[in-house]
Amino acid sequence: MFKIIPNKKNIGAEITGNVKKISKKDFKFFFKALELYGMIFFRRQKLNSSDYIAFAKHFGKLAKYPRLKGLSTKYKQITVVQRKATDKGPSFGEQFHTDSIYTKKPPRFTMLYSKLVPKKGRANTEFSSQYLAYDYLSKSIKNKLIKVKGRYSSEGPISVTTRERVKEKGRKIEELKSIHKIIKKINSKNTIYCSPGHLVGFSPNLKNSEKVKKQLFKHQVKKKFQYSLEWEKDQLAIWDNRSMLHQATPFKGNRIMHRITIL
Ligand SMILES: [Fe+2]
Repeated sequence: MFKIIPNKKNIGAEITGNVKKISKKDFKFFFKALELYGMIFFRRQKLNSSDYIAFAKHFGKLAKYPRLKGLSTKYKQITVVQRKATDKGPSFGEQFHTDSIYTKKPPRFTMLYSKLVPKKGRANTEFSSQYLAYDYLSKSIKNKLIKVKGRYSSEGPISVTTRERVKEKGRKIEELKSIHKIIKKINSKNTIYCSPGHLVGFSPNLKNSEKVKKQLFKHQVKKKFQYSLEWEKDQLAIWDNRSMLHQATPFKGNRIMHRITIL
């Protein structure tokens, strides 16, 4: 039996139970929880790569991350996100963003499974609820954003954190670009779907677009919308990229996460 414990202000929720013992009904419950809370996480899950992939497949079609190679030929849908104690410069994803928004069909969900983590509380993933951000958005910015789409690039501001990792393990690919609606509706709730790490402009362009961009970014990541997820080994988290921004906390140490993105 699974039990749900929503976080304060409903920014994410913990679910207790063993994810290897699941029914179809449980997945409906997880889906609903993701729609309501944006992110769910499970502690103490013993999964091998086949179990992990099998679990992920229940949420949709697994995506291929265009910028890094997979774990192995057999498990190419798993991307290894690794930080070594000797690494210099920023970690992968150290700025608020949504994953792969610069692709034509960005992944709806991202899943992380912790294989090796530093001391609890030292390498968190921070989330910012875009349901709450929408609710608190001023009417004047709301009116502007409803009329435009966002233009995104894989070479946006966050790309500096990806460059080192791509150099080590990735494949060189050309810049990817996309255009997506900013205000989205997930069932009955509105959300701001905009990745500060990748936004390069608006379509059509807005008057004072730089000013609007700055105001929007500042608003999207206000402390009151945030929840900081602490990692333990063998913890699994999944979030909806349409309603949650996320970022890695800067840290020094060794960490290995296995990531799967789902369309
Ligand atoms: Fe990310």
